[in-house]
Amino acid sequence: MASDSAIGVFDSGVGGLTVAGAITRALPNERLVYLGDTARLPYGSKSPDVVRRYAERCADFLLTQDIKMMVIACNTATAHALHYLQMKLEIPVVGVISAGARRALVVSRSKRIGVIGTAGTIASGAYKKAIHALEPQAEVFEQACPMFVPLAEEGMTSHEATKLIARDYLKTMREHEIDALVLGCTHYPLLREVIQEAVGSQVALCDSAEACTDDVKAVLTDTRKLAEKKSGPHRFYLTDVQASFRTLAARFFGADTDPERVDL
Ligand code: DGL
Repeated sequence: MASDSAIGVFDSGVGGLTVAGAITRALPNERLVYLGDTARLPYGSKSPDVVRRYAERCADFLLTQDIKMMVIACNTATAHALHYLQMKLEIPVVGVISAGARRALVVSRSKRIGVIGTAGTIASGAYKKAIHALEPQAEVFEQACPMFVPLAEEGMTSHEATKLIARDYLKTMREHEIDALVLGCTHYPLLREVIQEAVGSQVALCDSAEACTDDVKAVLTDTRKLAEKKSGPHRFYLTDVQASFRTLAARFFGADTDPERVDL
């Protein structure tokens, strides 16, 4: 694959646009092919085998799109399918979890770290393992927040109901006196303000989406595949139409974001 090939990015839906947006901000010459598996969303409540199978289908589609590397923007799919796809594919595959773990350890002084994610991500213990691999002494407190995805999808990012739910989910984080909280789900950066209010301003929020761009850059630098000049328009694919796609995509990519539908 040449340096003007694209970066393939997939997520269970539109939330991965937070990751795609972060990549284009950090690496503006790169061309992205984004796939949102909206027909099968949510991945967060599904079992590991099912998520792995869905992730494999997403990967197979992206491999037909002249890509030089793949980013699993979905935390749940990273938890269940990253190692599998890294073994299977011939191009580099990057997920969002190890980057989020690294970022948390950089910003945390007390090494008392909270992690929030979907039920699947939290049950996998993937963040805890990634943090402990780097800092065995760190104390990690995990909490699944399954209602956050539908609230973000509905655009209820500052609604009173969202604030109430956030306070309830995150009250144990206050009790644990964490000083860093990993937003271990694509959608949670969209609820950043409500989450910050619920945990208190002393807690640093670590966005896996932002953190993963360092890994993308490192892979492209190591493989000498960084795009030297703007290499064409991004492309967006969804497995089902989703009304919220355009609003969210416009936020990160401007107006030119017509998604195409694909059947996987
Ligand atoms: N993309 C998923 C994640 O980051 C959240 C949405 C879902 O449950 O599919 O874990």
